[in-house]
Amino acid sequence: MLTAVAWPYANGPRHIGHVSGFGVPSDVFSRYQRMAGNRVLMVSGTDEHGTPITVQADNENSTPQETADKYTRQIGNDLQGLGLSYDLFTRTSTGNHAEVTQQIFLALHRNGYVVPKTTRGAISPSTGRTLPDRYVEGTCPICGYDGARGDQCDNCGNQLDAAELINPKSRINGETPKFVETEHYFLDLPAFTKTLGDWLGTKTDWRPNVLNFTKNLIDDMRPRPITRDLDWGVKIPLDGWRDQPLKRFYVWFDAVIGYFSASVEWARRSGNPDAWQEWWNNADARSYYFMGKDNITFHAQIWPALLFGHNGEGDKGGEPGKYGRLHLPDEIVSSEFLTMSGSKFSTSRGRVIYVEDFLRDFGPDTLRYFISVAGPETQDTDFTWDEFVRRTNFELANEWGNLVNRSISMAHKNVGAIPRPEAPTAADEELKALSRKAFDTAGAHLARSRFKLAAGEAMKVVTAANKYLSDQEPWKLKDDPARRDTVLHTALQVVSDANTLLTPFLPHSAQKVHEALGGTGVWAAQPELKEVDDLDIDGRVNPILTGDYAAEQARWESKPIEVGKPLEKPSPLFTKLDPALGETGPEWAPIIKE
Ligand code: MF3
Ligand code: ZN
Repeated sequence: MLTAVAWPYANGPRHIGHVSGFGVPSDVFSRYQRMAGNRVLMVSGTDEHGTPITVQADNENSTPQETADKYTRQIGNDLQGLGLSYDLFTRTSTGNHAEVTQQIFLALHRNGYVVPKTTRGAISPSTGRTLPDRYVEGTCPICGYDGARGDQCDNCGNQLDAAELINPKSRINGETPKFVETEHYFLDLPAFTKTLGDWLGTKTDWRPNVLNFTKNLIDDMRPRPITRDLDWGVKIPLDGWRDQPLKRFYVWFDAVIGYFSASVEWARRSGNPDAWQEWWNNADARSYYFMGKDNITFHAQIWPALLFGHNGEGDKGGEPGKYGRLHLPDEIVSSEFLTMSGSKFSTSRGRVIYVEDFLRDFGPDTLRYFISVAGPETQDTDFTWDEFVRRTNFELANEWGNLVNRSISMAHKNVGAIPRPEAPTAADEELKALSRKAFDTAGAHLARSRFKLAAGEAMKVVTAANKYLSDQEPWKLKDDPARRDTVLHTALQVVSDANTLLTPFLPHSAQKVHEALGGTGVWAAQPELKEVDDLDIDGRVNPILTGDYAAEQARWESKPIEVGKPLEKPSPLFTKLDPALGETGPEWAPIIKE
């Protein structure tokens, strides 16, 4: 399984809207797949090119590389803190990424799927020099947003040309640019009409939001520019282009290639440089792409077109490039938006809840749980502190934390170890059967990225176990220690099962429960942030996330608990939040009454 996770722009720290789209869903999925015995390669990195970065660098009076360095580290911290189990989280400014991007382009070029065209580019009338895209601003011809830039509208997400903007202005001095002829490479999308149409026709089980959106896109495809007038990005590897100071690949062209280049980098770092082939040259491999809905175009239309073109499988035919036939996406899992009181999370509107602040005050698992059970899986969803407090206090602390705590405490107090069961009753068997069955139902939901349903199945087991304890009242069985031990053994077995079922969602607390049940070693592995030398650029050091997930013990199955294993007095799993938080919000993101 390849888990391909959307690449966050290295232009600021991550807020909880970002990580609810690409982050938590992809990690819950990958953790489940590893537990189920599949070989997972989970890759991503920061998206460091294009105007999103250069504009931020201008704002900070720094260079694009400095800005990208700063935010790549910060984002790495955010994602590590959340426990997102990337095999490799890298960045697009590596030497490896430039090389792979250029190779993919050359294959597309040889096969005739990228063609140069003369277009109109901006120049400054006062200096006569080319005005890079990022310095042209105007009104978006598609949605009317008046802060659209010369390559992209941040409001509607459409790719634009500076010449299409209404009332274009130079951001340097406010003058109206002149437009002159300039050459750019275009991806010949119409040459994929049949290929993409046939391919989409086979994707019957995609989420309907993705499928319908993509079908509309491919009804009307026009050639699309893949190079820009910019001084920051991957260079075009052709004579006459390579040395031009203002010609670079368009940021989305190189970013989607990141899925493949990161797999190659991971393989090179693993000691077997061909190890990426298991996921990319293998027809039996499966690839799952996770993102927010504003990214669908690029993953369900552009990236598949690039792969088909590279493989020589578009309507014009051709030969695969140097990497052989590359595997097309199997699933596109797109989340809707997490909003806060109606507005899409946006730094400009000041309604931002940063991951870093959230983790410091509430820890990773409460946020992971909230996103999984109440996140924007299939519709835009409003984040409220009130709902967050409710989910944390009632579901995590009362239901789950309490079940763990009272079962282990009672066994610790009465027996000091996992008790030996005697003959089970029908009630005991029924509860254990319920939790065993949940592996099938929750597993089937997780395999299809239906996180709410999967978490719901796990929580049903927790609820049933709480009811079982209330019914059996082991605390009243002082005079019947054999029956008491049987009840406690049953409860602990189901705590262990529920912990396994909840591990993809709550990996940090799952590790604690594993230890509270007397387990040792790594139950659920966590990513590490490392500084490593760039494989190709001397003197460059890159922060990466990686981890040793093969070492973890968690398996997607009911594991019999061991009678006699010593138990310590447990400490609480989740701290209850002050309900006032639901009304005021935290200091760093107060609720503003409107
Ligand atoms: N940086 C883009 C965004 O934040 C996502 C890029 S996903 C990629 O919207 F795969 F194309 F890199
Ligand atoms: Zn727009």
